[in-house]
Amino acid sequence: MIVLGVESSCDETGLALYDTQRGLLSHALYSQVAMHEEYGGVVPELASRDHIRRAIPLLKQTLGEAGLSLEQIDTVAYTQGPGLAGALLVGASVACSLALAIDRPVLGIHHLEGHLLAPLLADNPPPFPFVALLVSGGHTQLMRVDGVGRYQLLGETLDDAAGEAFDKSAKLLGLGYPGGPAISLLATEGDPQAYKLPRPMLHSKDLNFSFSGLKTAVLTVVKNHAASLAQQALSRQDKADIARGFVDAIVDVLSAKCMTALKQTGLKRLVIAGGVGANSQLRAALNAAAAKRRFQVFYPELQFCTDNGAMIAFAGALRLQANPQAASRDYAFNVRPRWPLSEIG
Ligand code: KG4
Ligand code: ZN
Repeated sequence: MIVLGVESSCDETGLALYDTQRGLLSHALYSQVAMHEEYGGVVPELASRDHIRRAIPLLKQTLGEAGLSLEQIDTVAYTQGPGLAGALLVGASVACSLALAIDRPVLGIHHLEGHLLAPLLADNPPPFPFVALLVSGGHTQLMRVDGVGRYQLLGETLDDAAGEAFDKSAKLLGLGYPGGPAISLLATEGDPQAYKLPRPMLHSKDLNFSFSGLKTAVLTVVKNHAASLAQQALSRQDKADIARGFVDAIVDVLSAKCMTALKQTGLKRLVIAGGVGANSQLRAALNAAAAKRRFQVFYPELQFCTDNGAMIAFAGALRLQANPQAASRDYAFNVRPRWPLSEIG
């Protein structure tokens, strides 16, 4: 069975073909980052319009690389939510129109389920059950995963998501958008002793997070610094030191909560998913903890950490394998910009 995946929930248009026999056949991605950069964040209207421009050329590229024709697709899976309403509508309408044209069923996929299952695309996939840390631009959640569709929320952020904290802090340091990779890179030049920033909820005993205070702490440091320097710009070294303080704090909290989740569930496997899962400092901290405490940690391939079509095609294929009736020929689609993972059927 061949599944076409269409992702368009935010600022990446992703298409992919997944074959349940042969695995991932091809995938293509267009990132709108350069377009949104000058606005310092994603502009939803521009995102929607760009998805319209990219979807069909990416589809052709994906089919070409797989050596397939449109008619060889068995099911079209698309991101139904959560995400930007207009952006989601583009992907949904492209997916449903294609499916209608070739008389195939469609299947709406939850974006976070896509992220959650992406580590299973790797060569050495983790067996169920496992604890998953989902860290993206919009979400920070710890979950117990017992199988496809069997997700139990253990804890989540009470305010900002981890990726949001990365992006907002990077913006305060003038590092552009999205700031996660930039602040992470700059932190490698920073002095770990220069700034000790707060580690919110580190000792809260539960598995929830809070990152807005950390972002405010970065803002306070930047402001105090500017005042003491009589408004002179921060030097590169100052920025690197602040970046280091920020990264150390957020990585400490994320890894400590993962350890607590493993302890509470008694599970020995940890899976990291979502854009922040690409972060090298987080990976180093978790790898070190795994070596010391005898649990295994799994990551998606770097290219499948951030948004992509492969994870949607793959999640669609797994859902269909679990329930061949999951897809339908109802092309009167609707999208779900806000859609808790706990509500998926
Ligand atoms: O999963 P994703 O592509 O989109 C959402 O579904 O939100 O995640 C994007 C987020 C952004 O906040 C971005 O700054 C962050 O992931 N990110 C990183 C890194 N790469 C991407 N954060 C820290 N370090 C990175 N290397
Ligand atoms: Zn995402």
